[in-house]
Amino acid sequence: MGGSMATSFSFIFFCYLVFPFLLSSDLAYAYEERGIAGSINLNYTHIVRTSSLLPSNVCRHSTRGHTNGRHLKVVNRHGPCSHLDQQKIQVPNLTQILIQDRLRVNWIHSRLAVNLGHESFQTSATTLPAKSGRPIGTGNYVVIVGLGTPKEDLTLVFDTGSDLSWTQCKPCVGHCYDQQEPIFDPSSSSSYSNVSCFSAQCSQNIKIGCTSSTCVYGVRYGDQSETQGFLAKERLTLTSSDALDGFLFGCGQYNDGLFGRTAGLLGLGRAPESIVSQAAQKYGRFFSYCLPTLSGSTGFLSFGSSGGNSNSLKFTNLGQNADHPSFYYIDIVDISVGGQNLNLPPSLFSSQGSIIDSGTVITRLPKTAYAALRSAFQQQMSNYPTTSPPPQLFDTCYDLSGYSTVSIPKITFLFGNNVNMDIVAEGILRVVSATQFCLAFAGNSDDNQIAIFGNYQQQKYEVVYDVAGGRLGFGAGACD
Ligand SMILES: *[C@@H]1O[C@H](CO)[C@@H](O)[C@H](O)[C@H]1NC(C)=O
Ligand SMILES: *[C@@H]1O[C@H](CO)[C@@H](O)[C@H](O)[C@H]1NC(C)=O
Ligand SMILES: *[C@@H]1O[C@H](CO)[C@@H](O)[C@H](O)[C@H]1NC(C)=O
Repeated sequence: MGGSMATSFSFIFFCYLVFPFLLSSDLAYAYEERGIAGSINLNYTHIVRTSSLLPSNVCRHSTRGHTNGRHLKVVNRHGPCSHLDQQKIQVPNLTQILIQDRLRVNWIHSRLAVNLGHESFQTSATTLPAKSGRPIGTGNYVVIVGLGTPKEDLTLVFDTGSDLSWTQCKPCVGHCYDQQEPIFDPSSSSSYSNVSCFSAQCSQNIKIGCTSSTCVYGVRYGDQSETQGFLAKERLTLTSSDALDGFLFGCGQYNDGLFGRTAGLLGLGRAPESIVSQAAQKYGRFFSYCLPTLSGSTGFLSFGSSGGNSNSLKFTNLGQNADHPSFYYIDIVDISVGGQNLNLPPSLFSSQGSIIDSGTVITRLPKTAYAALRSAFQQQMSNYPTTSPPPQLFDTCYDLSGYSTVSIPKITFLFGNNVNMDIVAEGILRVVSATQFCLAFAGNSDDNQIAIFGNYQQQKYEVVYDVAGGRLGFGAGACD
């Protein structure tokens, strides 16, 4: 009896005094707090400092993913690494971001539903003019490119859900919103030319009219933002060593909406007007990006080759749908939470398909899939106090303000071709306020709407679009 007391005393002594020197003090605290030291399987659990989930206002310049000269720096346009004047942007709060995200998703769903004949859940967004083109809403990551000769640097939102690239252009015949850089002036560039109304490039997708035989394009996005102007060609400089001549873009004369202080948009969809299709000869329909977290770092966008460590890439199938040629279709098979597969019926994802999108923030799952995910997550988070959710989107929130570290069950997406992708901890919970940490996924309103794999869940991964090869790659830890 005395012996066993002495043993347990020395064991406790060991835990309290020795572990703090072996583990970081936060980690030791987490183990001690849960009273299950040694029983946490780190294959299925993220142990994270709660402070690491909070947005930062200090930019840490990443040195990762800079292995070749062909990548552009990617930053969150509202984050600390953005050079856009945050005072003048009127940075949207989370509620506004989630409302915009919902508009984008509604638009994607209504677009896809019309062709599928599901008239019953059309939203007001379907009343957009037919000539609005396919694009939808705007993303929240930006890159800087050079346009014209000599080149002018312009900050563009990049978006895999839309195709035509455009920038605001002088003389702004209609309206230009405030942007960070000077507005592009075609008359100061020696490489600018208008596209004729009779050219094949003045395609029915984007043409809304003609003015003195110049093609006039128009695009209206899901959040009611829009741009109209002259269809034109220019020299586009991506990096110091790389430029595309005769790049087709929109020289926007009437522009309005939620583009912040960016100069326009870089369209990375798969339709003919996108940079991916236009640069097919040069880059072989291959690009990749890494989206940084809210903790204030930078990522990259790279054309023609992987921008990260290509040895760690795992490839699943990348598909297309002829009725919706802009979108990148993926094959979600199942989801696991804390190492346990939800065993979702295959038809849940396969009937409508799933797409990956850089511009949708929060991943949308079929209603049934989200319900299963939420219930498994709630079960495994039952040690933590729940709290009421905010009005928009999220429905499962925890008050983690009393914890310096937390253990969160890993959420793993299982894609076709046996590719498992562990969502990073920053992509599982979204801090809404100091006391609200919410499960950062959402359900569609039914099982017939397409699933969308959003950018919040893609953070820190290199995502490789090998469009020509029909495959999508994921490489962990490519940026911070
Ligand atoms: C964790 O994963 C590794 C690699 O798959 C495996 O070798 C190891 O046994 C796993 N550990 C536990 C505790 O499951
Ligand atoms: C976000 O902004 C909207 C519109 O300006 C405002 O009504 C709302 O109260 C804000 N929400 C939060 C949580 O600050
Ligand atoms: C492009 O077309 C517009 C509209 O016709 C015209 O005002 C402008 O001068 C043209 N620019 C060039 C460089 O031809």
